[in-house]
Amino acid sequence: MTDRVLVTTALAYTNGPLHIGHVRSTYLPADVYTRFLKMRGVDAVHIGGTDNHGVPIALQAELEGKRPEDIVKKYHREIERDLEGLNIEFDEFSCTCKEFNPEHVKMTQWFFEKLYENGYIYEKEVEQLYCPNCERPLPDRYVEGVCPYCGAEGARGDHCEACGRYLEPVELEEPRCVVCGEKPEVRRTKHLFFKLSEFEDDLKEWLESKEDWPKNVRNYALNWVKEGLKDWDIVRDIDWGVPIPLEGYEDKVFYVWFDAPIGYVTFTKQYCEREGKDWRDYWFNDDTKIVHFIGKDIVVHHAIFWPAMLMGIGATLPDVIVAGEYLTLEGEKMSTSRGWVVWVKDFLEMFPADLLRYYLIAVSPLTRDADFSWDDFQARVNNELVADLGNFVHRTLTFAYRYFDGEIPEGNTDEEVEEAIEDAHRKATEALESFRFRDALNAVMELARFGNEYFQRHEPWKLIDEDEDRCADVIHSCARMVKAIAVMLAPFLPESAEAIWKGLGLEGKPEDWDEALEDVETRPIPRPKPVFPRVEDEDIERAKALLPEGEEEVSEERSEEKETISFEEFQKIDMRVGEVVEAERIEGSDKLLKLKVDIGDDTRTIVSGIYPTYKPDEIKGKKVIILTNIEPRKIFGVESQGMLLAVGDEGEPAILTVDESKREVKPGERVR
Ligand code: 2FM
Ligand code: ZN
Repeated sequence: MTDRVLVTTALAYTNGPLHIGHVRSTYLPADVYTRFLKMRGVDAVHIGGTDNHGVPIALQAELEGKRPEDIVKKYHREIERDLEGLNIEFDEFSCTCKEFNPEHVKMTQWFFEKLYENGYIYEKEVEQLYCPNCERPLPDRYVEGVCPYCGAEGARGDHCEACGRYLEPVELEEPRCVVCGEKPEVRRTKHLFFKLSEFEDDLKEWLESKEDWPKNVRNYALNWVKEGLKDWDIVRDIDWGVPIPLEGYEDKVFYVWFDAPIGYVTFTKQYCEREGKDWRDYWFNDDTKIVHFIGKDIVVHHAIFWPAMLMGIGATLPDVIVAGEYLTLEGEKMSTSRGWVVWVKDFLEMFPADLLRYYLIAVSPLTRDADFSWDDFQARVNNELVADLGNFVHRTLTFAYRYFDGEIPEGNTDEEVEEAIEDAHRKATEALESFRFRDALNAVMELARFGNEYFQRHEPWKLIDEDEDRCADVIHSCARMVKAIAVMLAPFLPESAEAIWKGLGLEGKPEDWDEALEDVETRPIPRPKPVFPRVEDEDIERAKALLPEGEEEVSEERSEEKETISFEEFQKIDMRVGEVVEAERIEGSDKLLKLKVDIGDDTRTIVSGIYPTYKPDEIKGKKVIILTNIEPRKIFGVESQGMLLAVGDEGEPAILTVDESKREVKPGERVR
């Protein structure tokens, strides 16, 4: 491990406060990782802040009759407050706003000039929509219309929610200005393009060399590069953004995705100036490791656009990019507009931060989708944190306090305890080094479970009368485990770790990762208090009451235990064996394959989200199971006449097939 590590978290858009989805995918893992590095004595710096430009914020301001900077200020404060409440620590937390951070304007323009000098920027005419009524261009979300691919109404100028495609405003059918409703006209204007295509080979080689990266990032980015890279339009016709230092561009600004990642550099410089360091040691020095934490929806920006920009000026490339997958709420996609979210602020009014930190890490590995459910939250806190960890710590300290005169007794640590501690420490270290946060936390929880079992097995309540010396060894051994738990819990649950540390009579807080392995000193301890509160049913009722009404029934229908159906009802389902005869990718989609499947008396077109796990050549000739009498559905403009059955989360499908070890199965045979 190198000595200098720069950890960044994706900059939050200042168009709303934080919800638990942001926390889970990005902020929490970055915070845990940086805390861990710092505890190991690494010169680690955590940089973050807010992302303030772009069309959505400009548009929101316009529709609310405010100035964009007012929106930025309000949400920057709220986001900062949410992060503080969760004990997410930064060495620098800043903003990209041209009004509040002129340094960022300077840095972005400097970056652009370097790319320009190095020959990576060129000018090109583009077509864009213009509203004759508002007398201005309509970039991105300033225009809405019908999606040309799936026909959905209300597609925006940059993206269709219904089919997930990226769009150009001029592609929309029946476009209209979102401010006045007028039909726009097409006009030509000049934009600047970044020569992304020139970096195709270098990016490919670079990504291929990153064999140890999380798969969800590397595979996705590599697939994207292999499709071929187009040059990138870095200009928008609005006034909310970083001004372009070039004649003829006075009415335009840089696209927000051009200036946002440069924010990482601006903020590093600001941090360095305060600390008397040289920011070039971070961005122009290959001894520094740059680690980006992001959500999975912005892999392309961080693993393709951004490294290409860095290559263009000869800066240090990210060492690793860690992307958190999505979080659903009670089985449903979160939606801020419907209020189907848990805001950080609301959570913190009801529960301590550490309970959320625990749940979000324990519930699932970062590289898998996860669900936040209030009932599961209650169960995990009560059955794991309270019953395993809290209980072990509390019974150990209480026993010492009561039977050893308010002190941790002197004694020898049992060998099996030394081994359990070393084992947990090794597992947690390895897991954290490779960003497997849940595994690392599990190692700590396992030590607590072992501690409980050890306590129970040695029956100190009997030993205290029968053999006081042996009892002292047992309680001393338990206190060693309590100390190790406090240390290793610190990156995850900093408040609770500190409380446990103080419970052992120690000063300050755990600060040295390897101190988990060291013996515990005999010293007076304070009167023990339970570490974690139990989460009661009423608390959960109160939390659920904040969600919009009626949603719960929907999610219950979709939860694990489904309603019983009759045999007749089952008979209505027509599932058959099919043989895939053709397979191809659907252009513009990352996951979908269009299949032709022979189902005996018919050949069906089936659209299925099994790419890139299954490549077209691989699936061809396979026997699969098709639900044939489901209503046809248009996906990405292609009618899917049935459904291919598969298991697994999004991104990790495994298809259902048929066992032919006893006899050959023919396409068209019914599943019964
Ligand atoms: O997707 C987002 O929320 C962006 N605001 C992330 C920007 S990250 C970086 F590039 F600044
Ligand atoms: Zn208009």
